[in-house]
Amino acid sequence: ESISPFYSMSTEVQYSPPWQDLSIIGIAGSSGSGKTSVAMEVVRSLNLPWVVILVMDSFYKTLSPEEHHRAHANDYDFDCPESIDFDLLVDTLRDLKKGKKANIPVYSFADHQRQPQTTTLYSPRVIILEGILALHDPRIVEMLDVKIFVEADMDVCLGRRILRDVRERGRDIEGIVKQWFDYVKPSYTRFVEPQRPISDIIIPRGIQNTTAIDMVVKHIQRKLQEKSEHHSEELRRLGLIAAKV
Ligand code: C5P
Repeated sequence: ESISPFYSMSTEVQYSPPWQDLSIIGIAGSSGSGKTSVAMEVVRSLNLPWVVILVMDSFYKTLSPEEHHRAHANDYDFDCPESIDFDLLVDTLRDLKKGKKANIPVYSFADHQRQPQTTTLYSPRVIILEGILALHDPRIVEMLDVKIFVEADMDVCLGRRILRDVRERGRDIEGIVKQWFDYVKPSYTRFVEPQRPISDIIIPRGIQNTTAIDMVVKHIQRKLQEKSEHHSEELRRLGLIAAKV
């Protein structure tokens, strides 16, 4: 297939450039349900270039000094939608869809704040958006190609969270347990679980469920294939590549 030399000069025709084919896959589910492991396994199995994981933690709002103080006392609700800067996340995803680069904040769980440095994302082909509330905001849901909800027994979630928060997030067990019962669990019932019915695929038992992960990967591959066929058809329609023989 050869690209016509005139294609960048034509202004009349409706042509959607390849970056508009960016696919976004949302993975929601309880803290500790295994969202990150599922996302990593999907990336590994897809085995394509330009697949990135975008973690919603990067979009926590900046806290006031008073909120900061409460966060350090495990007395701040990081599990309700108000704690996340959805406007910034929506703008970031829209920019990426337009082919613009985006600067992603780097979040520190130990300090409860964004770090001065950012990571830059350039035109990825697939973004896996992972976060407890990945399917919450309708503006985001509208942009998603596949909506996944990862489920796990809540005792398993709490157990995983204790181990991870002690090892990786600089927390102590007492504080983790307090925050879990005061905020994480109530917000799960109020905001996280209600995303379940709007998901396309529910993965029970998270990462252990290799059958479900295989299905997810196949589903994503099919979606990507459909998009790339649509894109080639568009180019063909515009006479920018040779017609199929
Ligand atoms: O990785 P995971 O999905 O578990 O991350 C989300 C969790 O991180 C939320 O349940 C929230 O309670 C917790 N969190 C926190 N401290 C912050 C920001 C988020 O404990 N500063």
